[in-house]
Amino acid sequence: MTEKKELGLAVVGCGVVGRIRATLAKDYPGIGWIGLSDMNEDVGQKLKNDINADYYTNDFRELIRRPEVDAVIVATSTWAHVEPTLTAVEQGHKLFIEKPLATDARQSLEILSAIESNDIDAVIGYTQRFRRRFLVVKEKIQSGQIGEFNCAVVRAFMNRMAPTGETRLTQDRRYLTPMVVSGTHSLDMAFWLMGDAGKPVSIYARSRDVIMKELGTKDATFGLFTMENGSMFSMNICWALPKEWPGAVYGLEIGIVGTEGVIDIEDTHRDVILATENPQGPAYVPDGNTKGLTEVQRNVDFLTSFPPGDIHDGELWGPMREETNSWFQRIYSGKQTPHATAVEGHRNLMLTMAMDLSAKRGTEIKLPIDPDELMTGLDE
Ligand SMILES: NC(=O)c1ccc[n+]([C@@H]2O[C@H](COP(=O)([O-])OP(=O)(O)OC[C@H]3O[C@@H](n4cnc5c(N)ncnc54)[C@H](O)[C@@H]3O)[C@@H](O)[C@H]2O)c1
Repeated sequence: MTEKKELGLAVVGCGVVGRIRATLAKDYPGIGWIGLSDMNEDVGQKLKNDINADYYTNDFRELIRRPEVDAVIVATSTWAHVEPTLTAVEQGHKLFIEKPLATDARQSLEILSAIESNDIDAVIGYTQRFRRRFLVVKEKIQSGQIGEFNCAVVRAFMNRMAPTGETRLTQDRRYLTPMVVSGTHSLDMAFWLMGDAGKPVSIYARSRDVIMKELGTKDATFGLFTMENGSMFSMNICWALPKEWPGAVYGLEIGIVGTEGVIDIEDTHRDVILATENPQGPAYVPDGNTKGLTEVQRNVDFLTSFPPGDIHDGELWGPMREETNSWFQRIYSGKQTPHATAVEGHRNLMLTMAMDLSAKRGTEIKLPIDPDELMTGLDE
């Protein structure tokens, strides 16, 4: 048997998600070296100590260029993926990039072009693809059980703790909209399930910004995509539910109707409910700045509504574990996995931003749209 070389992994961004993935890396036998970077030294050093990582620096470029590194996880804040990603591409490393690929459509295209021209194996963190319920739905649709795609509807309801946590580290919230930051997960799910039928030619959307305006973002965006064969997909998200809402983060309903059947998915997490006299803290507790997050008291909780998974005995169990460990199998053993590709990540950003542009203009937007035209329209 030939011995495989253990891989060196760089994790850039050591917050909630970087911590989960780096902790799993520590237990994966094919990963022999782990280096960390975070601009917040306390957060990075704490993770280094907790998992006994090999290296920490606050300079992500220095980390990514180290000779030990073969693969990189970019888990920096939503708006800070571009530079670490391009540095990793320049080094030819295998890449795992958190969603969204970028928060500017032109930069997203730049990343995609760099990945493609350097022939990099890059995947994007659309974690919900790794849940058994969605994998079986994908299997049934791709094996023709509901016939040809006809129409689909998605309703995502989110606790406002999510945007509160998301916006806490930046004042530039122009593109931190419900669709770009969170609806991207549901949109990716819908297009992944639709497969080849998902070829949108137009989007019409409307938004509201009454409750979340003070945070610099919107409450809700509802939209209707039309596909090239006339089939339609209605994508609706509201992330302004009260902090007391029992869903900790995400509740989803998806209906997909085909010419020979239907699949109706109830994913609101109302099947395992805790009610207690002991107030629960939020599911999402990042290190550092927790303004607006920790004061909330919730006495009812839809258990399993924290999308990455749930903690038992200090360890995370659930989709982010499956997603991360399968990526390690992918980069160590060459396993085929259902991760989202960079092409899909770019598509998702373009479509979520096109919804925002349509809502801003109050008109239908023809698709595909050029990234320059999209950004110019959003910045007008
Ligand atoms: N796949 C999923 O289900 C899922 C869930 C939550 C968040 N996310 C994504 O994961 C990413 C991280 O989210 P999080 O919840 O861990 O956020 P977080 O705020 O807990 O952590 C982000 C970390 O990145 C660091 N950082 C920011 N800019 C940096 C830079 N330029 N260089 C170095 N470090 C930098 C911050 O100091 C912070 O510690 C985001 O892109 C988010 O959208 C994905």
